[in-house]
Amino acid sequence: MPAPVFVLNGPNLNLLGTREPGVYGTTTLAMIENDCVAHAGKLKLAIDFRQTNHEGELVDWIQEASRVASGIVINPGAYTHTSVALHDALKAGGKPVVEVHLSNIFAREPFRHHSYVSPVAAGIISGFGPHGYLLALEAIHRLIPE
Ligand code: DQA
Repeated sequence: MPAPVFVLNGPNLNLLGTREPGVYGTTTLAMIENDCVAHAGKLKLAIDFRQTNHEGELVDWIQEASRVASGIVINPGAYTHTSVALHDALKAGGKPVVEVHLSNIFAREPFRHHSYVSPVAAGIISGFGPHGYLLALEAIHRLIPE
């Protein structure tokens, strides 16, 4: 089995289930984690699933991933649209990155249309709800060298 894939979640994603259900649905982050663990098992991948509300902690985890992970799936939450620090950390890390969003950020407010993460990601999955995480795992699986 390759080194684990870090599945990193940014601010307010701990509130999934009750947060704006019209936008994000009613699935909790714990349910998404369970589905990710099950799907990763089918792909013969190990995952390390984490959430934080703190930008610097995401930077620390990305730096950790560059040492011990085979790739990164990241939903940076609102930091997607603001964080040069995440951009720089992901770029420096040199690991394959897949960006995921529950909602279709391009169908929402204009301030969500720009991502600092997309230029340093292999690709972006946006708008498929929790299923997007499973699509992201399939994408990262293909990007990890044998
Ligand atoms: C999000 C989209 C972001 O614009 C927002 O700030 C989030 C969640 C999503 O998964 O759709 O917190 O990343």
